[in-house]
Amino acid sequence: MSRKVIIAGNWKMNKTAAEGKALVEALKGLVADVPADKADIVVCPPFTTIAAVGEAIKGSNIKLGAQNIHWAANGAFTGEISADMLKELGVEYVIIGHSERRQYFGETDETVNKRVKAALAAGFTPIVCVGEMLEDRESGKTEKVLFTQLEGGLAGLSKEEMAKVVIAYEPVWAIGTGKTATPEVAEETHNFIRMTLNDMFGREIGEGVRIQYGGSMKAENAKELVAQRNIDGGLIGGAALVAESFSKLIHNALLG
Ligand code: 13P
Repeated sequence: MSRKVIIAGNWKMNKTAAEGKALVEALKGLVADVPADKADIVVCPPFTTIAAVGEAIKGSNIKLGAQNIHWAANGAFTGEISADMLKELGVEYVIIGHSERRQYFGETDETVNKRVKAALAAGFTPIVCVGEMLEDRESGKTEKVLFTQLEGGLAGLSKEEMAKVVIAYEPVWAIGTGKTATPEVAEETHNFIRMTLNDMFGREIGEGVRIQYGGSMKAENAKELVAQRNIDGGLIGGAALVAESFSKLIHNALLG
C-alpha cells in the first residue's frame, strides 16, 4: 500500500510570531516545487505564533498544526487551548502526547486518549506520539512500552477514526541528542507498531496508517529513513527551525 509522506516540523517552544512568520516566508519558496499529492508538509508553531504563520502560508502547500489540544470544549482549564480556538486559525493537525509533555507535564495515555478523541471529533488529524526511554530499550522493554502507549492512547477509536490518525514514533533517547535510530532499528520498531495497529484495527486500516519517525532526523539521514517500508515521514524538531535545513530534509525524504 502506498502511503503519502508526511513531514511535520514541531517547533516546540521556539519562535515568536515575527520569527515564525519570517521562517515560513522563506520556507514557502523553497518547498513550492513539492507537489501536494507527493507529501504533506506541516508546521506546528507554539500557540501564540500560529495566527501569524497561518496568514503567511495562505495559498502555499504548507499546512498548519498545533502542539496540543484540550479535550473540553471550553471552561475553567487555565493554560489550555480548545478545538474551536485552533479551528478558527486554520489548524488541521495536532501533535498529541509528545514525550516532552509526558515527561514534564504529566501527560498520560489516558489524557492522550481524551485529546485524540476531541481532536478527531473536531475534524483535526491527530499526530499521536509514542516512544521508549533509553532504559526501556536497554532493558528490552521497547515493545511493551509502545504497546501500552498505543493501546491506551488509541482506546475506543473506531476504524474510521483510526484511518485519520498519524503515529509519530520518537525514541526519547534520540530526541535532540544527535543520536538517530539507525534506519534498521527504526524500521524494526515501525514494523512492530504497524503489526500492533493491524491487530487492534485490522490490516486494511493498519496498513494505511502513516507512521512518522522523529528524533534527530535531518537532511543527511532523511532519505535512508523514509526509504524504509514502514517509515512514512518525519516529525522534526531542531532541523525544522531553519528554512533551508527543513526544505533540504523534505526534498531528501522524497528521494527515499
Ligand atoms: P529533534 O529533531 O530536535 O531531535 O526533535 C524531535 C522531536 O521531538 C520532534 O517532535
